[in-house]
Amino acid sequence: MLDVARHFMPKDNLLRFIEVMAMHKLNVLHLHLTDDQGWRIQINRYPKLTETGAWRRESSLGSWRAGVFDGLPHGGFYSQDDLREVVAFAAERHITVIPEIDVPGHSQAAIAAYPELGTGAAPGVWTRWGINETVLEVSQTSLEFYRNVLDEVVEIFPSRWISLGGDEVPLTQWQSSAQAQSQARELGMPDVSGLHSWFVGQLAGHLDARGRATSVWDEIGDGELPDGALVASWRGYEGGMSALKSGYDVVMCPEHRLYLDHRQADGDDEPVPVGFVTTLQDVYGFEPLPAGADEAFPGRLLGAQANIWTEHLDSPRRVHFAAFPRLSAVAEVLWSQPENRDYDGFLARLEGAHLERLEAMGVEYRPLSGPHPWQLRPGVAGWKRDYDAEQRIAAG
Ligand code: ACM
Repeated sequence: MLDVARHFMPKDNLLRFIEVMAMHKLNVLHLHLTDDQGWRIQINRYPKLTETGAWRRESSLGSWRAGVFDGLPHGGFYSQDDLREVVAFAAERHITVIPEIDVPGHSQAAIAAYPELGTGAAPGVWTRWGINETVLEVSQTSLEFYRNVLDEVVEIFPSRWISLGGDEVPLTQWQSSAQAQSQARELGMPDVSGLHSWFVGQLAGHLDARGRATSVWDEIGDGELPDGALVASWRGYEGGMSALKSGYDVVMCPEHRLYLDHRQADGDDEPVPVGFVTTLQDVYGFEPLPAGADEAFPGRLLGAQANIWTEHLDSPRRVHFAAFPRLSAVAEVLWSQPENRDYDGFLARLEGAHLERLEAMGVEYRPLSGPHPWQLRPGVAGWKRDYDAEQRIAAG
């Protein structure tokens, strides 16, 4: 998964990224096209989505917690013809592009363009990172709008799955929205929390009527999953395991293993060091099923995916740095059996030939010994997390 919403990746760079994916036999590109900070897909019926929603005044510089902004306008979007070209270019290389239109959270750019989609005052396109309380209003207006958007999306993307996102939806606004309260009452819900999966389910039904299946982040499994949904399990393995046991298709992408925006080493030299330390060797040690999982479940584990979020990857060069060579390790792990994996052998092949191939392709990977001087971002605040400590706290 590549996030082109937080920072736009120009089409020529996206095509190059797809070429490098093909070289690694990676066969699905989940393209995160919309978020609070930008809407990147032209929708003919709603031109303000890109006129207004595709750019922001400035961006958080580093972790939003530092409260520093860069003062630089940022934006860009793909025309429908651009996306058709991307889909065709990928298809020639045996790669399916799965678009994501994220609802009902991560939608502030859309609300900035069409304030009637929101629950209150019109916000601008969001300029900071983090989880956002601004969400879509649970209304017929919003549903009708997104049905129309999806009708254009399915015309561009022939993939079996369309992602509706569904991650990180704070309930704050719905708790004080008369519309949301009344919708919950009408549906016989005790509170507004069920509206999250209900809203996604309404749009999943629309996709189903058009012959498409829905992909969602695993939060939707906390409520009701749409029939035939594909679950992308990011909050660890649990959401994916639970979906497999209930007969759903799953793609594993646990945050503590496969988030390639997370820092690659423990040192302070990592540029904008955020998240859990996820070294090349950690990635190579990834298993699509958690240790001890009983493999006899009714659902299908379709694969795994690395997620490349771009809050702190503000250029294609920074995406290369975060992705490679860790994505090379992802490819080897996902196309091999555990008994055939050998980290030392992988390293020898990287150093003996593969890094040279990446270099020849113009991929500005992170050298194994650490960043080049020009890859450092001195003074830009990160936000380091410690997985073991978080587990201990969660366990009480
Ligand atoms: C996610 O990382 N919010 C899917």
